[in-house]
Amino acid sequence: MRCGTLAWGLAGLLGVSQVHAAVTVYNQIPYGASASSSAAGAGKTANAYADSVQLTAPALPNPLPPTTFDLTLGTNNNSQNGLSIPIPGSFYGFSIEMSVVNQVVGKNASLLQVPFLNLMSLLTVRGGGVHIRVGGNTQETATMVSSLPNGTILAKAEVANDTTQTPALLISPEMMYMMANVSTLVDGVKWYLGIPMNDTSNLRLQIAEVGEQILGDNILGFQVGNEPDLYGGHQFGGRPLDYSTQDYFTEFGTVMTAINNDAQITVKKNIVGPSVTGTWTPEMVFDTGYLTAYASNLGFIAVEKYPNDNCGVEFPSAGDPVKDPQTEFPSYLNHTSGLSIISAFVNGSQTAKNLGLPMLMFETNTASCGGFPGISDSFGSALWALDYGLTMAAADFSGALLHVSGASVYYNPFTAPPTNQSKFHEWTISPIFYSTLVTAETLGPTNTAQVVDLQANSGNIFTPAYAIYENGVPARVALFNFMTDPSGANTYTATIQITGATLASVQVKYLTAPSVAEKTNITWAGQGFGGPFESDGRLQGTEDVQTIQCSNNVCSVPVPAPAFALVFLSDTAFSEVNPAASAIPTFSTTTGKPGAAAATINPSVLATSNGQGGANGQIMLGSTSQSSTSGAGMLAVPWLSAVLAMAFGAAMVGRRMAL
Ligand SMILES: *[C@@H]1O[C@H](CO)[C@@H](O)[C@H](O)[C@H]1NC(C)=O
Ligand SMILES: *[C@@H]1O[C@H](CO)[C@@H](O)[C@H](O)[C@H]1NC(C)=O
Ligand SMILES: *[C@@H]1O[C@H](CO)[C@@H](O)[C@H](O)[C@H]1NC(C)=O
Ligand SMILES: *[C@@H]1O[C@H](CO)[C@@H](O)[C@H](O)[C@H]1NC(C)=O
Ligand SMILES: *[C@@H]1O[C@H](CO)[C@@H](O)[C@H](O)[C@H]1NC(C)=O
Ligand SMILES: *[C@@H]1O[C@H](CO)[C@@H](O)[C@H](O)[C@H]1NC(C)=O
Ligand SMILES: *[C@@H]1O[C@H](CO)[C@@H](O)[C@H](O)[C@H]1NC(C)=O
Ligand SMILES: *[C@@H]1O[C@H](CO)[C@@H](O)[C@H](O)[C@H]1NC(C)=O
Ligand SMILES: *[C@@H]1O[C@H](CO)[C@@H](O)[C@H](O)[C@H]1NC(C)=O
Ligand SMILES: *[C@@H]1O[C@H](CO)[C@@H](O)[C@H](O)[C@H]1NC(C)=O
Repeated sequence: MRCGTLAWGLAGLLGVSQVHAAVTVYNQIPYGASASSSAAGAGKTANAYADSVQLTAPALPNPLPPTTFDLTLGTNNNSQNGLSIPIPGSFYGFSIEMSVVNQVVGKNASLLQVPFLNLMSLLTVRGGGVHIRVGGNTQETATMVSSLPNGTILAKAEVANDTTQTPALLISPEMMYMMANVSTLVDGVKWYLGIPMNDTSNLRLQIAEVGEQILGDNILGFQVGNEPDLYGGHQFGGRPLDYSTQDYFTEFGTVMTAINNDAQITVKKNIVGPSVTGTWTPEMVFDTGYLTAYASNLGFIAVEKYPNDNCGVEFPSAGDPVKDPQTEFPSYLNHTSGLSIISAFVNGSQTAKNLGLPMLMFETNTASCGGFPGISDSFGSALWALDYGLTMAAADFSGALLHVSGASVYYNPFTAPPTNQSKFHEWTISPIFYSTLVTAETLGPTNTAQVVDLQANSGNIFTPAYAIYENGVPARVALFNFMTDPSGANTYTATIQITGATLASVQVKYLTAPSVAEKTNITWAGQGFGGPFESDGRLQGTEDVQTIQCSNNVCSVPVPAPAFALVFLSDTAFSEVNPAASAIPTFSTTTGKPGAAAATINPSVLATSNGQGGANGQIMLGSTSQSSTSGAGMLAVPWLSAVLAMAFGAAMVGRRMAL
């Protein structure tokens, strides 16, 4: 993420990178403006995720794109140019800031969030898996302790003004047990963990040691160094302003040597790096000899990028410009956005491909410093993330992780209700979550999906389209209309054919909303998650799949403004990503919500779906609440000093955790 120096300094102090200060003008607006959210009740105060203020859809472009165009697909992946490497259906996953994992995943191994499990289940049955990173800036100063009181998985330590002196986050092995339980309950959920690199003179590898021991094969990899190209500018960990790629190369090597010498870390080649943001390009790091020197450790090549930031609002005193969301909105609503975000990394992805390493966008979202109200939580953001994701896939990226932070940020795909909200409130599923669902369905579970940007409509940026080949043949076509025009005049028709192939009919699912500015009235083939506090993580409503008859093997698919359409070119292409509802494992609570499907596991291990209720209320929900009060709201728990003494006592350092 990019923020001003002070901004980052504050965020670093508070242990959270992508936070959004309480913007009072937006924070206290009662939701309920739309029909669908009225059921949640009136008079409740809202947070970012329940802010109902909408922007205005941008004006129609001039000139307008043509409203009909042809898409002719090659017969197979030998005759179609421009296809990517095989992309897994787990492409879109989540990057959960380490400090908020207790808000969205669960309280501990025996108290898991039901809506979270349901959401992950929806994704795994479509894409075959979900990859989740627990990390972020807070991984850098995290410290593992043998246990925390009352089965707590993490605690934010009270920090002094100097981040280099003070721990910011304590985590217990219970966190790993919790993650392991999620993987047990939802087959296909796998994890990346961040291990700290704030201090390579005093390494703390326990997160990797304990992580591997508890999570085993459910660990995909360990990230070493989060955005090291920003270390110097922020003087993070006491590093100099002129911190160089060579300095990073050396420090990274120190960690690799320690890992290679650590008998408790048996898998050596699963390290994620260099995780640069473009301040250093991947090539600048590679030029140090990084790829060769650490070939036996690197399992993944990663970068991290947000296209924009809202730091001017987040940290007013840092001097960043305050940006007007309405002015920024159009920059998310065309195909240039995704292309420009990855432009500095496309060459690096080819290097990764040549080495046989997956290229990952390890942390991303609409805008750092909390996102933009009205953009990050709009239907436009869903279209943006879908197009950005397919742009990455077409450029041989194997995965991208959408960042999840505290309850006051605008970009979270899903948010648990705050501690003091009523029991009747459930989760808020934001528009950008639909992007992950639809991408899983677009790519499917076969791990053979090859994606091509079709340069549709003569490369018009408002109507991009992609073809997805599976097992070498055309399977699905993805069509976008970024415009908003309720009159219907800018509904376009794509005429689809496959060279030499018979096409009698196709099935089509639409992701729709009345406007790109819409926040709650969003459906995927007729189903949705409702508005703020309305979801238990399962799709509601009756599925509505269109069948379009083709004529002379040409299929005409209309796409309204705005909408995304997924065209299924065969029965298999449809059925493999559209399991019967009865085949989707769901989780319900002991409270038995109306219409809840049967729980497939003993409900006693699950938290009530209203999230934080009954749990240790001292751990505050919104990371922002803390930043906005300059530390005054920092968690201060009576047992903390004892824990710190335990964590940093000489006896603890380098010793195997007592599990
Ligand atoms: C642990 O739980 C007990 C019983 O609920 C409570 O009295 C105690 O204060 C808790 N300790 C901490 C550190 O939260
Ligand atoms: C899990 O957390 C809950 C809520 O904080 C607590 O009541 C329970 O005792 C914890 N479970 C264990 C096994 O520590
Ligand atoms: C942090 O800085 C402020 C102002 O510079 C000072 O008043 C405060 O005592 C400092 N806090 C700590 C814990 O050092
Ligand atoms: C790194 O973080 C740890 C734990 O928060 C802290 O104790 C240590 O002082 C930090 N080191 C540096 C160099 O900032
Ligand atoms: C969750 O984790 C705990 C601790 O490892 C374990 O005892 C329990 O059986 C697990 N539950 C499930 C449902 O996997
Ligand atoms: C399209 O998006 C790009 C990149 O985000 C932006 O710079 C440009 O202004 C947008 N074009 C229009 C016409 O809105
Ligand atoms: C692309 O990457 C290769 C391999 O790292 C490098 O040699 C080349 O200079 C890069 N090209 C650009 C334009 O960065
Ligand atoms: C909920 O908690 C927050 C912070 O803990 C507090 O500011 C707010 O007033 C509370 N809201 C209600 C309705 O109690
Ligand atoms: C075509 O697809 C098949 C099956 O997925 C794959 O084995 C083959 O490598 C692909 N060929 C090309 C040229 O991409
Ligand atoms: C929701 O949006 C659809 C179009 O996507 C529209 O037909 C419908 O009237 C809207 N419903 C509400 C309650 O606004």
